[in-house]
Amino acid sequence: MSYLYTLLHNYNNGALMNMLQLIYEGKSKRVYAVDEKTLIMEFKDDVTAADGLVKAVAMGKGVLAARVSAHLFNLLEKSGIETHFIEYDSKRRMRVKRLEIIPIEVIVRNHAYGSLLRRMPLYKPLQRLEPPLIEFHYKDDDLHDPLVLEEDIIRVGIVDAHTLNRIKDSTLKVNNILTNFFASKNLKLVDIKLEFGVDNHGNVILADEISGDTFRVLDENGEHLDKEVFRRTRDVGLLLKAYLRLAERIGIGIEDVSTPS
Ligand SMILES: Nc1ncnc2c1ncn2[C@@H]1O[C@H](COP(=O)(O)OP(=O)(O)OP(=O)(O)O)[C@@H](O)[C@H]1O
Ligand SMILES: [Mg+2]
Repeated sequence: MSYLYTLLHNYNNGALMNMLQLIYEGKSKRVYAVDEKTLIMEFKDDVTAADGLVKAVAMGKGVLAARVSAHLFNLLEKSGIETHFIEYDSKRRMRVKRLEIIPIEVIVRNHAYGSLLRRMPLYKPLQRLEPPLIEFHYKDDDLHDPLVLEEDIIRVGIVDAHTLNRIKDSTLKVNNILTNFFASKNLKLVDIKLEFGVDNHGNVILADEISGDTFRVLDENGEHLDKEVFRRTRDVGLLLKAYLRLAERIGIGIEDVSTPS
């Protein structure tokens, strides 16, 4: 890390962000290159639903998602999972290891919900899935991230069978750690979407974010503390309330989340 980076990071974060190269802007995050090994992920206040067709701005959501992600990545690291997380940067940003993302979304389901109920209507809503069900989707927004088979992934050469097994192992471990953590807060982890990447040494590492945008969590009254609130109501106020409650329930002290940057 350069001296200039440290200086600007400590004294003028705005100037630092202007200096960094924006390498990707997605629906929920901006990704900046710090150097060839490190990225900064900046969580936006944007919220989308219905496959990106519905868009809104929820002031403060970016900070909340960054704080929750950093908190949960920390927990996973302490529990022995290798993740891309380096540190929470400030407000809406975290520093991560730069990886080659495997273009697969891994969904692990503990209870039947959402697209699973549409795909297989014989499941009852919120029916327990034990052992958890793992699904793979090919990351391609234009194709709406289609469901794919393990065999498809191996045959087209996205990863080999050995790597896919490591991804499945890691997914189950992550799911286990998070399920127990949420249970200790009296919350139920319904399902979660994970992304993995590969570093220069070929290690498979948990990447992206872990927040209300990527998991479904219910409280003891069956209330959602995740993006489902927005999917159903399209109300950013209710979404922010749910994200704030989630942060508080998992022990994150929330200062003012509505100030920009
Ligand atoms: N450690 C990492 N190194 C490199 N890229 C990463 C890392 N972690 C996550 N990414 C990628 O950074 C991007 C984050 O942006 P965002 O989540 O907003 O994208 P998106 O709109 O969901 O689109 P998509 O995930 O389909 O590319 C994603 O493409 C994600 O795969
Ligand atoms: Mg994403």
